[in-house]
Amino acid sequence: MGLPRFELESQAPKARRMPSYPTAPLRVKVKLYIYPFPFWCVLYLAIAVAVLCVVFLVSKLWPALIKSAPWDPTPMRIVNEMLDMAELKKGEKLYDLGCGDGRIVIAATRHYGASSVGVELDPIRYAITRIRIRANRLKRAEVRRENFFKTDLRDADVVTLFLYQSVNNRLRAKLFRELKDGARVVTYIWTFDGWEPEKADRKNRVYLYRVTKKINNNKDMNESSRS
Ligand SMILES: C[S@@+](CC[C@H](N)C(=O)[O-])C[C@H]1O[C@@H](n2cnc3c(N)ncnc32)[C@H](O)[C@@H]1O
Repeated sequence: MGLPRFELESQAPKARRMPSYPTAPLRVKVKLYIYPFPFWCVLYLAIAVAVLCVVFLVSKLWPALIKSAPWDPTPMRIVNEMLDMAELKKGEKLYDLGCGDGRIVIAATRHYGASSVGVELDPIRYAITRIRIRANRLKRAEVRRENFFKTDLRDADVVTLFLYQSVNNRLRAKLFRELKDGARVVTYIWTFDGWEPEKADRKNRVYLYRVTKKINNNKDMNESSRS
């Protein structure tokens, strides 16, 4: 079994004298060539294409399946601004919830000396982040393939987010409950209803929130987090 190949061959009658206009209709003959491509070769190629199509589709439909934010990378200049605004220090621990291609995790460890954890549910972004961490030989960076609603955040000093307003609001109670006093949450574009940012760059839409659990301090943060 092999791949059929079709070839067109025109057979216009040879004219003895070249007329200035076509004198006879053009006849077309189809020749069929069978090349000796092994069947398994074609089969493997078809399977590989099908797998790629499924992976692409799953990746595209993933946010809808998990009812959360789709992948959209934060521009690198905003990544730097987020980490500067958080005043991320060497030795601190950063979590990027929904880490995409791992750009925040990599920048946090490479340029700020932090230990960083990326959390990503999408298998393709997870694999990309894993490869990038390995390629950069970052020992203090890791990526976990899990739902960030189930990630334990108790040892986080900084949490970065680029999700959706509704997802931020769903995370609010968890952040308040689990994060230690003084931990910082930096979010790009989307805010938290009922929480006042400590710092804000409204032009670039970068907001920093500090978790404060002292009694009567930041009452808003405390109360809105119970919902
Ligand atoms: C807008 S992208 C942000 C990517 C990255 N943080 C950045 O700033 O470039 C949001 C990411 O969150 C991931 N995500 C959404 N919901 C998630 C969940 N519940 N658990 C883990 N990852 C999630 C998506 O797959 C997507 O890659």
